[in-house]
Amino acid sequence: MPQDRKVKVLINEEKIARRNSEIAGEIALKDPKNLLVVAVLKGSFMFAADLMRALHHAGMMPQVEFMHLSSYRDATVSSGQVVILKDVESDVRDRDVILIDDILESGRTLAFAKDLLAARGARVMTCCLLEKPGKRAVQIDADFVGFTIPDLFVVGYGMDVAHSYRQLPFIGVVE
Ligand code: IMP
Ligand code: MG
Repeated sequence: MPQDRKVKVLINEEKIARRNSEIAGEIALKDPKNLLVVAVLKGSFMFAADLMRALHHAGMMPQVEFMHLSSYRDATVSSGQVVILKDVESDVRDRDVILIDDILESGRTLAFAKDLLAARGARVMTCCLLEKPGKRAVQIDADFVGFTIPDLFVVGYGMDVAHSYRQLPFIGVVE
């Protein structure tokens, strides 16, 4: 069975909810104009949904778009290539965009998406649920980070291993 392994809780639901409210408050302080949330699928879908609600509670009226990206890693090729599987539908020109992803690791995915939206004229801020330090292949930092975690493979709250465990309401580590 794909999900028969135990998952140990690393960050529980309450901590995630509290941090989402704090991040929404940090975003509100930037006083964004015509705010558009762009969530990178699939891993950020749950975080994005909760952050949208937190932004509402913090007094903002964001719109939301999705971008499905996939990064192909070939052991023989050092530079991972990012491919667009689904693009945003709205014009992002002159808008404040919060680009959301699940994990900032090598930074390739986030850098690719940020450059793409910026080239289309958006003012882009980046927001990652998790950050694993010391793993960066390209120079990029997120403007908002949920939690900095050690170099563990995590699942849950939208994140998967082989397409499983995305439904978990907490962030965990497969034992
Ligand atoms: P990078 O920053 O371009 O290396 O991409 C990070 C992406 O790799 C994330 O968006 C995830 O899809 C995936 N990823 C990295 N670490 C983990 C993990 O611990 N669990 C699940 N997915 C991960
Ligand atoms: Mg991802």
